Amino acid sequence: MTSLVRVPAPILPREPRVRALKGLVLAGGKGSRLRPLTATGAKQLVPVANKPVLFYALEQLAAAGVTEVGIITGDTGPQVEAAVGDGSVCGVRVTFLPQPAPLGLAHAIVTARDWLGAAPFCMVLGDNFLKRGIGPFVDGFAAGEGDAQILLKRVPNPSAFGVAVLDPDGRVRRLVEKPAEPISDLAVVGVYFFGPEIHAVTATLAPSARGELEVTDAIQGLIDAGYDVRATVIDDDWVDTGKKDDMLEANRLVLGTLGRRIGGEVDAGSTIVGEVMVEAGARITGSTVRGPAIIGAGARLADAYVGPFTAIGANCRLSGCEIEHSIVLEGGVIRAVETRITDSLIGRDVVVERSPLKPKAIRLMLGDHSVVDIA
Ligand code: TTP
Repeated sequence: MTSLVRVPAPILPREPRVRALKGLVLAGGKGSRLRPLTATGAKQLVPVANKPVLFYALEQLAAAGVTEVGIITGDTGPQVEAAVGDGSVCGVRVTFLPQPAPLGLAHAIVTARDWLGAAPFCMVLGDNFLKRGIGPFVDGFAAGEGDAQILLKRVPNPSAFGVAVLDPDGRVRRLVEKPAEPISDLAVVGVYFFGPEIHAVTATLAPSARGELEVTDAIQGLIDAGYDVRATVIDDDWVDTGKKDDMLEANRLVLGTLGRRIGGEVDAGSTIVGEVMVEAGARITGSTVRGPAIIGAGARLADAYVGPFTAIGANCRLSGCEIEHSIVLEGGVIRAVETRITDSLIGRDVVVERSPLKPKAIRLMLGDHSVVDIA
């Protein structure tokens, strides 16, 4: 079943493109694939190298000159608002736009319609991560390239994505959600450029089979109405951080760029190897940290090994343990665990420790949808 409603002809006259794009960042949604972390927290606030993934999108918009930003929020709106504040922490001016329910990416555009007015805009999914940012694409669209622009990335597993079929001249002919047939390996990246024409299309959309207003249907509506929808195939690293392993991948990409800075205390019995950031107030004793890695402000490491591609959040306590290729959120405690922890995403204030109690057994207190892999 498709929700596509054909739009007979361009409904609005084309607006002359103005340089000042607005930004629309989507930070609502359900986050069901990242439970249990998202049972209590916004998935866009899960940290990549100790910074919420959402902040990368906001900073990249600011770096591209887009400073007027609307943020779509859902149930976790209060947390997102508390973290972002007025946006100045990321160099943008923010207006929060509560979406009554997570009814789809195109519904987010409907929600933002009054705030957007007649401005062209760059829409970014708040859980998507592009390593090198969006500057050139913003410049191209602001300079008048096409009526809408999408970014595409070649992927080995296109059936997991929305994909685009292009005309020989690079214009978008068709978008297909999670194709069963291998019609294209060009996945649609979560960064889109639209003019005000999109509002006439989103107003005509009907919910898809999964009950959402789909942005792919909105873009298809633009194409069918005769608008010039362009695509740029990117070679940048792109991660849709919806699942644990994607978060770890984004973490790996950022940690590799941070360099070395020792802001906290490291005793003579510790070894810090390679690109490691030790934030102010952290204390490391009798431990080895092999980068790329980050140790958050106020964290304590004692007799611990932190291996490559690991982010230890602020005020964590690690002792008598080994961990690598993992993210530990703020306040996590790992104590006297003999087996090395790897490929893990450990939530805020979680405690993992060896118990002296008999019988020798694993004792768990896990939230809904938690996952434990035991060697
Ligand atoms: P998705 O990852 O497609 O959806 P989701 O957040 O509901 O996650 P899951 O599939 O794990 O349940 O959303 C992409 C981004 O857009 C994400 O940052 C959430 C946001 N979003 C909204 O703001 N409003 C919406 O109605 C939807 C569907 C998503």
